[in-house]
Amino acid sequence: MSAEARAHAAFLCHFGETPEGVAFAPGRVNLIGDHVDYCDGLVLPMPLQLGTAVAWRRREERAGIRALAADFADETDSFSPGEQPAPGHGWRTYLRGMAAILPPCLEGAGGLDLAIAGDLPRGAGLSSSASLCTALARALVAGGVAAPLPPVELARAAQRAEHDYAKVACGIMDQMASTCGLPGHAMLLDCRTLGWRDLALPAGWAVMIVPSGVTRGLVDGEYNLRRTQCQAAARALGAGSLRDVPPGDPALADLPEPEACRARHVVEEIARVEQAADCLLHADLVGFGACLGRSHQSLRDLFEVSHPQVDRLVATLQSAIGLQGGARMTGGGFGGAVVAVMAASETARVRGSVASHYGQQAADAALVLVPENPVVLHASTHMYRKSSQ
Ligand code: GLA
Repeated sequence: MSAEARAHAAFLCHFGETPEGVAFAPGRVNLIGDHVDYCDGLVLPMPLQLGTAVAWRRREERAGIRALAADFADETDSFSPGEQPAPGHGWRTYLRGMAAILPPCLEGAGGLDLAIAGDLPRGAGLSSSASLCTALARALVAGGVAAPLPPVELARAAQRAEHDYAKVACGIMDQMASTCGLPGHAMLLDCRTLGWRDLALPAGWAVMIVPSGVTRGLVDGEYNLRRTQCQAAARALGAGSLRDVPPGDPALADLPEPEACRARHVVEEIARVEQAADCLLHADLVGFGACLGRSHQSLRDLFEVSHPQVDRLVATLQSAIGLQGGARMTGGGFGGAVVAVMAASETARVRGSVASHYGQQAADAALVLVPENPVVLHASTHMYRKSSQ
């Protein structure tokens, strides 16, 4: 069952009424460009068909928000949108955070009931929290609690929820992919200007996402540390951000460790995103695959955010794919999923190779995206929906 159908069913079961609407926001897979968004870099994420759905219904009689989380053993929450939430983790932090951050609706809000359900694997580096924040924001707007915001502002608001309440100093890639990305397209996003280009995946290509089985644990400290190291490197180089440092700048070698390695990863990764986008535009699968391979090595060796199990999975995929494509870790790292790009005609064979190394269950968990997936944009509701469901 889709996330939307589950949110709808959970709403009906818990609140005893039919929801007025179901807001949806996608997760994303990042094709290339990791740990560069908070350095003003370029990234190439792709929104997924999977994401978070929030069924909503206004309540006349009493102000305040009541919510149910279908994926968290039907946990509930109830609060007034004016309340300042305490920092923390978990779905309530994001819900209360978004309600506090979004501008209130000018007409004055009534009550709102919400039921939340998602179909993204959590801890897989596929942006389940950005998709949760975006879907919640869309439901709060649709339900008359919050005033509408343009998509880029919505992305900034969702990023603030991470910074201010979840205390993760993330960049803006995930939120931008969730609010502004076009399904079936890679988004070449400039994290400095927040301008982007939607690049169609060439016909005959496929993207495969394979969960490594290692879920990201309590690694926010490591993530925040990487960001601090990048800022220190930029300062030492006299640059506003590492985006301003060209790859091969001799001053990079004069930095102390680990800043030197971190900075080298960032400046080279930004250049690789440009190369990869060029390969995508020219349907150069071999070139694109080579960029993915180099990106993985850099994240593993220079930025040190991979995991041995992820490295093994990348190697398995890369050897099954050969030169016609590539594989790399995706997202924040320390576990999570691997992304691979290959010819669409090869997906069954590559999945078979995953099955023979990791078992059928691992192979069945692999998601495959091909350009002709039936995804449409329902502009009238400001939500992405799947046409097939
Ligand atoms: C997480 C963060 C993003 C980005 C990636 C790594 O997903 O939320 O902002 O930094 O890690 O590229």
